[in-house]
Amino acid sequence: MARIIAVANQKGGVGKTTTAVNLAAALAAAKRKVLLVDLDPQGNATMASGVDKHEARPNGCEVLLDEAPIDRAIVTTEAHYDLLPGNGDLTAAELKLMDALARESRLKEQLAKVAGRYDTILIDCPPSLHLLTLNALTAADGLLIPVQCEYFALEGLSSLLDTVKAVRQRLNPSLEIEGLLRTMYDVRNNLGNEVSAQLTQHFGDKVLRSIIPRNVRLAEAPSHGQPIHLYDRSSRGAIAYIGLAGEVIRRERGAQAAVNALHDMHGDGVREDVVDTASYLHQEH
Ligand SMILES: Nc1ncnc2c1ncn2[C@@H]1O[C@H](COP(=O)(O)OP(=O)(O)OP(=O)(O)O)[C@@H](O)[C@H]1O
Ligand SMILES: [Mg+2]
Repeated sequence: MARIIAVANQKGGVGKTTTAVNLAAALAAAKRKVLLVDLDPQGNATMASGVDKHEARPNGCEVLLDEAPIDRAIVTTEAHYDLLPGNGDLTAAELKLMDALARESRLKEQLAKVAGRYDTILIDCPPSLHLLTLNALTAADGLLIPVQCEYFALEGLSSLLDTVKAVRQRLNPSLEIEGLLRTMYDVRNNLGNEVSAQLTQHFGDKVLRSIIPRNVRLAEAPSHGQPIHLYDRSSRGAIAYIGLAGEVIRRERGAQAAVNALHDMHGDGVREDVVDTASYLHQEH
């Protein structure tokens, strides 16, 4: 069953799409079966994956509205991950869903139909905390938060974390913070270090070890419709995203190993609270 990771931060331009696309490609290069869901009406993840958002039909809009089967909307990309494309139609879907029953669970219901086929499902969220992002957080096991190493990096993080709290209470109790990812780190100024120190002070080991440097090749790749490892596999950006994929896989294995060890100790009837403790131990230590 796929682990579902939402890439979200309501702050715009922090590297959500760059991370979702290049992590999807790096995981696929490591032979993982990956589905990338473009849940942003801007359709940037779709275009950056080499799929024309204007041609993509059916797409996430029809799937969320239950007007087309998810299988028909999913396409395979050149970098060997699958994509559920998104475009401006998602804005219409969001509006139509406003009055719908179980409106926050639409994506979760649809992804459940294909989750058995993938190891990882990544969701690229729009820069807002509205219904599309709520659908992503309701469907997700983990939340990956890209944070740009710039002034005001921490701005808005508290409302994101308040949203996570509310989602846990009402919609998805098992939502975990996968980690905060420092993006666009520039070695030539001290700001990155300052932001890093602030993040570690506030969030401790929720801050991922991988750091994504500011790298012009990462900014160029989307206009070629290619993830970085197809566009320039030896660039610093490509290497950084391979490192991130490794970290994501290790964290997953660590959590799984802890749960397996508890299964071995307690038999198959392992209790929910024991599993929770395992994931707590994995996260905090
Ligand atoms: N590490 C990086 N180095 C250089 N440029 C980057 C890097 N990461 C992202 N960019 C560029 O910065 C811009 C914003 O990145 P991106 O689109 O990934 O952010 P986003 O959070 O998805 O934005 P939005 O909130 O609009 O969806 C893009 O032009 C992207 O190519
Ligand atoms: Mg984006």
